[in-house]
Amino acid sequence: MLKTHNCGELRATHAGQEITLAGWVHRRRDLGELIFIDLRDRWGITQVAIDSKTYPDAHRIASDVRNEYVVQIRGKVRARPEGMTNANMPTGEIEVEATAIKVLNAAKNTPFEINKEDKVDENLRLKYRYLDLRRQRMQRNIVLRARVVKSIRDYLYDRGFIEIETPILFKTTPEGARDYLVPSRVHPGKFYALPQSPQQLKQLLMVAGYERYFQIARCFRDEDQRGDRQPEFTQLDMEMSFIDRDDIMELIEGLMISLVEKLTDLQLVYKPFRRLSYREAMDKYGSDKPDLRYDLEIVDITDLVGAAGFKVFVDNAAEGKPTRAMRVPGCGNYSRKQLTELEEMAKANGARGLAWMALEEGENGQVKSPIGKFFTVEQLVAITDKLGAKPGDLILIVSDIPAVICAVFDALRREMAERLGLADPKKIAFGWIIDFPLFEWNADENRWDPSHHLFTSPMHEDIPLLDTDPGKARGQQYDLCCNGYEVAGGSIRIHDRSLQEKIFGLIGLDVEDAKKRFGHMLEAFEYGTPPHGGIAPGIDRLVMLLAGEHNIREVIAFPKSQQAADLMAGAPSEALPGQLDELHIQSVLEAKNS
Ligand code: AMO
Repeated sequence: MLKTHNCGELRATHAGQEITLAGWVHRRRDLGELIFIDLRDRWGITQVAIDSKTYPDAHRIASDVRNEYVVQIRGKVRARPEGMTNANMPTGEIEVEATAIKVLNAAKNTPFEINKEDKVDENLRLKYRYLDLRRQRMQRNIVLRARVVKSIRDYLYDRGFIEIETPILFKTTPEGARDYLVPSRVHPGKFYALPQSPQQLKQLLMVAGYERYFQIARCFRDEDQRGDRQPEFTQLDMEMSFIDRDDIMELIEGLMISLVEKLTDLQLVYKPFRRLSYREAMDKYGSDKPDLRYDLEIVDITDLVGAAGFKVFVDNAAEGKPTRAMRVPGCGNYSRKQLTELEEMAKANGARGLAWMALEEGENGQVKSPIGKFFTVEQLVAITDKLGAKPGDLILIVSDIPAVICAVFDALRREMAERLGLADPKKIAFGWIIDFPLFEWNADENRWDPSHHLFTSPMHEDIPLLDTDPGKARGQQYDLCCNGYEVAGGSIRIHDRSLQEKIFGLIGLDVEDAKKRFGHMLEAFEYGTPPHGGIAPGIDRLVMLLAGEHNIREVIAFPKSQQAADLMAGAPSEALPGQLDELHIQSVLEAKNS
């Protein structure tokens, strides 16, 4: 071992001991005869003092080292004199008096400072990710991630789960994204698909009788990138047999609570977690992954404005389009400019416009609104009463089809919460969303799409609806949302061949197609398949929330950029000469360029 101790462990009790440390020069202060080096390794930082009077050789070497040099330091621990201790540093009671220093490796000037938390261009961070990962924030996040995964494993092993690996080279496992394909050399013209999730494999493990499976599973989805999406990401994938929805929800709830309480200082807003039906979530918050740290609820006012008053609302009501409103506390004094900004946001989300009413401050405050004149005083009172509006509040109103109203208020809720400081970063609010519709209508393709995935079971009582009104059938699906993100999705599965075939039919897969793509699943269902279900929390999103970050790239060691590229190694890249031939592939681009 090149070191006897790490840089985070020395305390006053070690005073007098001869030790050896090794790590990176985090910071160097040269006071002439005395040089201080803050030496860093994964565990922390230790102050080292090098005195030219007592150890001139060590001092000479210390004069030449620069930040990020890798050095080995031998020395003696001594208590810092009174008044010189640093309570902000775990090792702040001591320093090491260096007797010898050895440079193990020099370092060039780094493209950004490692010892500062300054904002650095993200592309530069990704290009030099190995340096970025040295920074304190990234170290904290990556260590937290490891602790989360370890805690998950402990929790599940304690409850009878076993970890089973499933293949990465597989066949299409649709979860709503495009597949990444891998050409086969030995099967010309054929391709493996990387799993979008191990969905089918975990169900087959239930057919195989393993009953409680989990895996820290890498998933691959070729889809548009966002802050909470990566082309490859990690799920805690799990599946259980002989259980119902509540069993899985309770198990996951227990896991999430233990992670928050053991590994963070965050305050859980709901314990037990809130449960909302999909309908309730959409109606109240305009989203199936609402941020439940704050209220800002949407209220339907169609009954108050649909019969008389402002013509747009009346006409919309006649066409079955509702009018809904949201109270924003304390924003009644918003300027024209601020209101126009909100209206632009509403338009960007599909609305024709955004109506507003502002309640003036004071007891006799009037309602100010460009559409106020169209309403009777009684109507205005009824609207403000229904919203619970108080003097000084602002009411935002949208009239449209429900999907547009939801999109607009989802965006406005997030925006206003941000502006009003309601999204408290110290709080974490989990909520279960249940009773999802089984299908979504795909108008372009003129068919039903599964809202979750192909294998989700309908609610038992809704099975007859598959023949009469599939759009009304609800799925046995449960999503876990947290602070405005979807962190997990799961369902009770179909375990009956004929029901599975019926669902394939409804989503437009003909019998032959279904057999070709999912014949192995259909066949398996005929060999004694237990009732089963599962869930998959996204580890990246979960760790992001536990770390208080806003982007999953901050909790992934080597993420892809927003353009799905690895900027450090330069992936994707061209194939080596001969590789395409071996794979029986011709690049259209090459043909075009030649
Ligand atoms: P679903 O598609 O809902 O379900 O995914 C489950 C969870 O995985 C995370 N996630 C992602 N994280 C980062 N980048 C992505 N591109 C990405 N896509 C999804 C989210 C999401 O909630 N097989 C089912 C699970 C099941 O039914 O058991 C599935 O994959 O946190």
